[in-house]
Amino acid sequence: MASFTITPLTDHTGAEVVGIDFTQPVDSETKSTLNDAWAKYHVLVMRDQNFTPVEYKRAATVFGELQPHDKKEHHVPGHPDLYYVSNNEFKNGKRIIPGETFHTDHSNHPAPPKATMLYTVSLPSYGGDTQYVDMHAAYDDLDEAMKQRIAPLRARHVYQSKYSPRQLTGLNEDSARAMPPPGLHPLVRVHPENGRKALYLNPVRMESIDGMGDNEALALIGELMDHATQTKYEYRHQWRQGDWVIWDNRSVMHQANADYDMNERRYLFRLMLKGEVPIPVP
Ligand SMILES: [Fe+2]
Repeated sequence: MASFTITPLTDHTGAEVVGIDFTQPVDSETKSTLNDAWAKYHVLVMRDQNFTPVEYKRAATVFGELQPHDKKEHHVPGHPDLYYVSNNEFKNGKRIIPGETFHTDHSNHPAPPKATMLYTVSLPSYGGDTQYVDMHAAYDDLDEAMKQRIAPLRARHVYQSKYSPRQLTGLNEDSARAMPPPGLHPLVRVHPENGRKALYLNPVRMESIDGMGDNEALALIGELMDHATQTKYEYRHQWRQGDWVIWDNRSVMHQANADYDMNERRYLFRLMLKGEVPIPVP
């Protein structure tokens, strides 16, 4: 393997990997260096990639095992296991921009995907950044009373919460049939690789907190979201052609931005990796 560099992009989240062509085999030492960096920085940006769908799927396995998407539609023609994100999707005549508020992916699953990744196929000439917030740092900064309060709490994550701040595109019959039961997840989870605690929140899918009235639950989630989405916890990724970005759904929330010219095409290949049942605080 040729020499490569890993450079942090902020002091908490995001690191840039330069000098690896992931269409070529990755040796085990490089693989473990990359996985260690990913556990530390939560978002890895691999620059200057040039993938076919098959090469992309193979490269993804450097970090784990592929996890199928909930939606059976929106896949790249000829590749039912490769999903895409596009700004050219409409529902009832209205353009749908997926991921427009902070969330973590597929948290309605009992064992949600540990990772999501995007590879740039086509980018607008400006805008369309993805924002990430560090849920470890956000947790660490909570006061002791709040940490005690939320440690035992569990939330029910459904496909789309009746309190979701945005509408998801619907599921077709096949997708709905394949949907797992809702996830019942701790509000604070322990990361199995870096050992750190993190807030685990997703207003799009969280419909209730066990043992709590809805008003109280919504107020608590709102307070934690206001805290966690402060700019000081953020890495904002400005996409470049050739970027392959992987993020850890156990460590960050993310959101998309619809601030670009919608006549321009924004199209990325999206894959996810299998995760584990979230580990609560001991
Ligand atoms: Fe997402």
